[in-house]
Amino acid sequence: MSCEFKIEPSTSRATINKNATSERLVIQTLLLPETPDGVNQAAKILTHGGLCAFPTETVYGLGADARNSAAVAGIFHAKGRPQFNPLIVHVASLEAAEKYGVFNEDARALAQAFWPGPLTLVVPLRADAGLSSLVTAGLGSVGLRVPAAPLAHDLLQTFQGPVAAPSANPSGKISPTTAAHVVDGLSGRIDAILDGGSCEVGLESTIVGCVAAPTLLRHGGLPKEAIEQCLGHDLADAKKGEISAPGQLLSHYAPSAPVRLNATGKLAGEVLIGFGATKDADLTLSHSGDLHEAAANLFDILHQANALNAEKIAFAPIPEVGLGQAINDRLRRAAAPR
Ligand code: TXA
Ligand code: MG
Repeated sequence: MSCEFKIEPSTSRATINKNATSERLVIQTLLLPETPDGVNQAAKILTHGGLCAFPTETVYGLGADARNSAAVAGIFHAKGRPQFNPLIVHVASLEAAEKYGVFNEDARALAQAFWPGPLTLVVPLRADAGLSSLVTAGLGSVGLRVPAAPLAHDLLQTFQGPVAAPSANPSGKISPTTAAHVVDGLSGRIDAILDGGSCEVGLESTIVGCVAAPTLLRHGGLPKEAIEQCLGHDLADAKKGEISAPGQLLSHYAPSAPVRLNATGKLAGEVLIGFGATKDADLTLSHSGDLHEAAANLFDILHQANALNAEKIAFAPIPEVGLGQAINDRLRRAAAPR
């Protein structure tokens, strides 16, 4: 898509110059600093129905007021999402979350143990929640999350309302872990980006369904083992049950070049991404073989590999334990047929 845009570091008035057609969006995207003034401007944009990307500890989210259907529809338009998948609603506290969802004992125990943090809980939607039905895609449940990143917390406190936010990338592309990644993918299509530097965790939240028995809907930044330890039993597996996170497309996080997994060596034309002491690696997720470091680096490395215009991107094997399960899930989607 071609679009004209201008990014200006600015703390001034959010001048929004929209000239939208179904094919083309021309917006001046503001880059807001991580100051109280930047946070106030971001909250103002949300209040007026605008779209503002903001950093969480997992990835950057593309936020809109979750009660405002026009604003939420703008998220789908800006991302080019093919379908109306349900979106995660971000709030400042468990108390705020309980205005929108019904928490059973398990859900409350998980929220108390892991919020704020990289965990999304899908719980029954409250009848009086007042959320746009686009946010829940008409389901009777809602995904709720209290992010830990201080800037996200400040924004949610200042805005004082529920913020619907998918990852701030064009649909199907690599998730963003820096403001520069968001600029690459969405500038000219959204009103502002609150720049809080790099995301600490670097992988999206783990999603647990708490509508019936606690069920793992998506691997993510909180290892499954930690959740099972808190519950005192195993999570049900969504693949075996009825419920799933409907937004999980098989091909996702796709860089331009095809991806090869479990590479034990480098083939001609490949950029090889290592883990631990991989021989001939061009880039490395973690030299020391640390899964937390690898998770935090994953999307940035995919963005870097993309920029190298390789014919193919190969990844060394990643152990299927702890955060390795979420990393491998993302890599399998990046490698899936397009
Ligand atoms: O870390 C994260 O979770 C990031 C940051 C921005 O918070 N957000 C994120 O959102 O990854 P997104 O839209 O890329 O992924 C949301 C996932 C989708 O797979 C969607 O289907 C699932 O959450 N989801 C949301 N509400 C749901 C519901 N009511 N039932 C089942 N799945 C739901
Ligand atoms: Mg996403």
